Amino acid sequence: SDTSPGTDLAGLIAEVADYPTPGVRFRDITPLIAHPGGLAAAVEQMVAAGPRDVDIVVGLEARGFIFGPAIALALGAGFVPARKPDKLPRPVESVTYDLEYGSTTLAVHADAFGPSARVLIVDDVLATGGTAAAAAELVGRLGGQLVGITLLLELSELGGRERLTRLGFGPVTSVL
Ligand code: PRP
Repeated sequence: SDTSPGTDLAGLIAEVADYPTPGVRFRDITPLIAHPGGLAAAVEQMVAAGPRDVDIVVGLEARGFIFGPAIALALGAGFVPARKPDKLPRPVESVTYDLEYGSTTLAVHADAFGPSARVLIVDDVLATGGTAAAAAELVGRLGGQLVGITLLLELSELGGRERLTRLGFGPVTSVL
């Protein structure tokens, strides 16, 4: 299988017009992760772009659950899932936020990590930044130290990076 840095990651992302709602161009990463070298190359580049001294990777449901654990393994870090409403069984901290389409809530277990933890947030796509900002807010509420936000793909025209920077969250690193 081709795991060389030359793997065309961008070419493995499918663009779907008007999904899930009219006007949204959905970036579908499933062809990339199905390609034998695609997942490895994506993880390798996401690790290389971000911080190395990390205790906890927080992955954002759902596609942060694909890249996050692989990055946590590479960094020797633990993995914490940030989940949609009513999925976590024990006491949570939660934040409700607006999406590119609709609104939702993200939650983490309140005891997921301690106050000194160095925390990296991982997701597939940065669009408006609402999801990543909610996750960063949760990291702060648990007392964690945010050391970075790593994405595979950044839709720069939607201003997510500027939003996160304005809120004091980052550094933000993306591969595509
Ligand atoms: C997508 C994507 C990010 C978020 C980015 O998730 O995986 O989590 O949107 O958008 P934002 O920067 O505007 O917040 P989606 O809402 O499709 O949820 P899912 O991964 O659970 O399907």
